[in-house]
Amino acid sequence: MALCSAISVPAQQKLEIFSWWAGDEGPALQALVEQYTRMYPGVTVDNAAMTGGAGVNVRALLKTRMLVGDPPDSFQVHAGQELIGTWVAANRMEDLTPLYKSEGWMTRFPRALISFLSSRGGIWSVPADIQRSNVIWYIPANLKDWGVAPPRTWDEFLATCKVLQDKGVETPLAVGESWTVNHLWESVALGVLGPDNWAALWSGKLKFTDPRAVRVWDMFGQVLAYANTESAGYREADGSGLSWQQAADRLVKGDAAFTIMGDWTAGYMATTLKLTPGVDFGWAPSPSTSGVFLMLSDSFGLPKGIKDRTAAIGWLKLLGSQNGQDMFNPLNGSIAARLDSDLSIYNAYSQSAAKDWRSNRIAGSLVHGVAAPESFTSQFSAVMDIFLAAKDSRAAANAAQAIADQVGLGK
Ligand code: GAL
Repeated sequence: MALCSAISVPAQQKLEIFSWWAGDEGPALQALVEQYTRMYPGVTVDNAAMTGGAGVNVRALLKTRMLVGDPPDSFQVHAGQELIGTWVAANRMEDLTPLYKSEGWMTRFPRALISFLSSRGGIWSVPADIQRSNVIWYIPANLKDWGVAPPRTWDEFLATCKVLQDKGVETPLAVGESWTVNHLWESVALGVLGPDNWAALWSGKLKFTDPRAVRVWDMFGQVLAYANTESAGYREADGSGLSWQQAADRLVKGDAAFTIMGDWTAGYMATTLKLTPGVDFGWAPSPSTSGVFLMLSDSFGLPKGIKDRTAAIGWLKLLGSQNGQDMFNPLNGSIAARLDSDLSIYNAYSQSAAKDWRSNRIAGSLVHGVAAPESFTSQFSAVMDIFLAAKDSRAAANAAQAIADQVGLGK
């Protein structure tokens, strides 16, 4: 495979890359950084990754750095409103359209994905991957021992969890810190609503207070009752203290049967835990979402006013190249955003995700920045807190609609 062409970067430059791909999430980014260093030996790379799944920690630090006029040279951000509605709106990013043109990317990335990255006549970041949110994970050997199959619908899920509890699996569903509970919610919502009503929720055509949307919370409450949350009477292993990886570990240890998490779980299981996809760990679309791919994409942009701009452009070129994407994604559990990636080097999980990406209905993730403006997404945790406090579906629906009205969702 040909390496993407290096550009000439003067020596003694620095490149600081902000992301949440640290610790167990780090190997794929690290491989790319090492490749960059081979291509640009004169650039000192500061891989300033900070743990905290879904960017919960790094986003706050990024905000401070941007606001004081000291941006990192490039930073991880989800495709969609997460960048468009924030730093693009604030005029802090460079338009990357010239780079897309010079690299031939206009036809190398799916047109729909480029439109997620575009606004105000510009293209604002380079996608590193395509990720799937709606996946249920399990350990086939454990399910076999317990005599259950992966559930295909949420009703089947509830029935299966009941059987598992009767067999002594106290909390069959593993969740972790609060964003992972929101992540679970989006799979339940997509399953209960279906892709048309899911989209209608974000375009403002379906109100959160519509009985169909209220039912999402009813089902969510029933699903959550099987998880390692306080509500399940399992305080010692309260999910709020666990990372998404630790939630996945509960499956491997046989303490839980399922977790609903994005396909970075495949990266963790295969790359970090060295488990074989399809043998040691299994997956399926999250219940009631077969045929729908709830997508998100991680991307990197170019803040205005950075010192070593050519070093950052070299980084973006590598990231968007076929070689860079096929180096990063097989380790990460995700698939390349590019249309010309070499699927033969991906594992069984990624190959199945790539097949679904090409054939499924596509829906956008809420939690990972695609479906709604940041002003809504950032307040969704407050809605969840209201629900968790009293398990009152109508109260949560009313709170969600109040925020939707306040931010003008869909307008
Ligand atoms: C998502 C991100 C993924 C993965 C995950 C867990 O928001 O898009 O690439 O990092 O968080 O931290």
